[in-house]
Amino acid sequence: MCGIIGYVGEKHPKEILINGLKRLEYRGYDSSGIALKNRSDIQIIKSKGKIKDLEEKVNILEIIESNIGIAHTRWATHGRANEVNAHPHKVGMVTLVHNGIIENASELKEKLSSVNFISETDTEVACALINKYYKGDALSAINKAISEIKGSYAFGILFDDNEKLYAVRKDSPLIVGIGENENFIASDIAAIIEYTNKYILLEEGEIAEITKDKVIVTKEGKVIEKQIIVTDISQDDSDKCGYNHYMEKEIMEEPAVLMKTLAPYLDDIDIIPDLSKYEEIHFVACGSAMYAGMIGKTLFEEYANLKCYVECASEYRYKKVIYDRKTLVILISQSGETADTIAAMRKAKENSIDTLAIVNVKTSTIARECDFKLFIEAGPEIAVATTKAYLLQVAILSLLAYRSSGGKDKSFIDDAKRLPGLLTDILNKKEVLKNIANEIANSKDAFFIGRGIDYAICLEGSLKLKEVAYTHSEAYQAGELKHGTISLIEKDVPVFAVISDENIKDKTISNIIEVKSRGAKIITVSNDEAILEGEFKIVVPKVSKLLQPILIVPTLQYIGYYVALLRGCDIDKPRNLAKSVTVE
Ligand code: F6R
Repeated sequence: MCGIIGYVGEKHPKEILINGLKRLEYRGYDSSGIALKNRSDIQIIKSKGKIKDLEEKVNILEIIESNIGIAHTRWATHGRANEVNAHPHKVGMVTLVHNGIIENASELKEKLSSVNFISETDTEVACALINKYYKGDALSAINKAISEIKGSYAFGILFDDNEKLYAVRKDSPLIVGIGENENFIASDIAAIIEYTNKYILLEEGEIAEITKDKVIVTKEGKVIEKQIIVTDISQDDSDKCGYNHYMEKEIMEEPAVLMKTLAPYLDDIDIIPDLSKYEEIHFVACGSAMYAGMIGKTLFEEYANLKCYVECASEYRYKKVIYDRKTLVILISQSGETADTIAAMRKAKENSIDTLAIVNVKTSTIARECDFKLFIEAGPEIAVATTKAYLLQVAILSLLAYRSSGGKDKSFIDDAKRLPGLLTDILNKKEVLKNIANEIANSKDAFFIGRGIDYAICLEGSLKLKEVAYTHSEAYQAGELKHGTISLIEKDVPVFAVISDENIKDKTISNIIEVKSRGAKIITVSNDEAILEGEFKIVVPKVSKLLQPILIVPTLQYIGYYVALLRGCDIDKPRNLAKSVTVE
């Protein structure tokens, strides 16, 4: 969701900024722009649509000499996706790119009545506000402006008569990349990884003043000593490495990241916290991360006898929550920057409730603010639709449930150790998955049915199909279908029936028969070779129930991927979606 990159150094910034924008594409955007500056001139080029459209424009124009610039990918919130609303914006002496939402933009705009605003954006208002206060002292102007701005922001700022790059953030990520005779700003390290692996994390309200060989960070006028972080992310992590799409690469990486995430705990299970001291657990997250929470809830209830609730963060943050002293709130987030999940975390903390994060990005807001954290080792996830990060969230929840049950399931550790190998075998035999994808590629609708933990798996399988392949798809508790939705089942509608839970297998089989007799095309997804009801079958090895979703979900992720490929969809950047939803 919106991306920022900025450069100051000895090189011309044009290519660095365009390359950075390409690396930020995965976050989701619908327009982009670039500003290049020298001592006397500033050139702003913007385009609606893809980065390649911006690049074409930049390539045919006469570009000014420059060694400082900022660039942006915009995901429209305030105002349509068009060239005028695209960033950078310029008002008076100030040129600016912005991620986030300025909540009091209308109020501020009224106070800036002398400005002739040309866009519909809140960003132009921020730009005008900084310009109003700019009398030659950039830091003072930024400080005055941010004291009046309400909402979330990461700003990259240039001033006409000054050769420095400025950055400031609140509730929206922004880092300062440290290079040799060059420095950067970026929404995440992936944008600049080909130039540096060192960066500074800006905290709320800190302002970075950046030249090619110096970064000075201040807060309310006081200089702050910052630690330089060295990332272990490599360029390979953010390249496609021979795959056509990040989504496929990331599915194929699942066995390796699973091993990396699980290994320390399987060597010493005691290092995973035992949550049995809590009386109630709230799993709070958005989208796929919430569906991982659904699996967590099922496992915790069954194995650890804990009362559990799953809530989507956008509801949880505003609803009345009746907390018990012995409640734990588990926040699940790949990015650690999802605005609603952050708000839910802060709500729990304000109520003095313990918070535990299951998170991928170690420097993210959620990772920094939660009381306790468990990291998944997914590495960068670039495809907008999550695959490997979701799977690792489920893996950590399985570990927690196992530990909190007092080690109830004796086969758990051995099965967990076998998991990466078993998953590799499944992913190496993709023909069966491709055949099924071919079979359903032209279907307008699809259904996923299952009970208990299988229903939680269905939710994720269904989401993958709709978000990347644009197939309308619904996940239903198998027994609930006949209370209304079964009226949508007609000849050849694909119904995926997930059956991994032995205890309720026969019940789901009855539901398969109900839809089959109405003409549905059944695809059974199971750990039991003997189930014969489906015309198509996906069979995975049987493992501990605590771990079974980890072998099933990747098959559904791959079907989503392959249907999207057959339908010619923009797999890594599905329409209207953003990778990290940093606004409400
Ligand atoms: C779907 C997907 C989203 C995310 C959700 C939460 O494929 O990726 O539903 O799971 O936006 O994002 P994080 O985990 O970054 O909080």
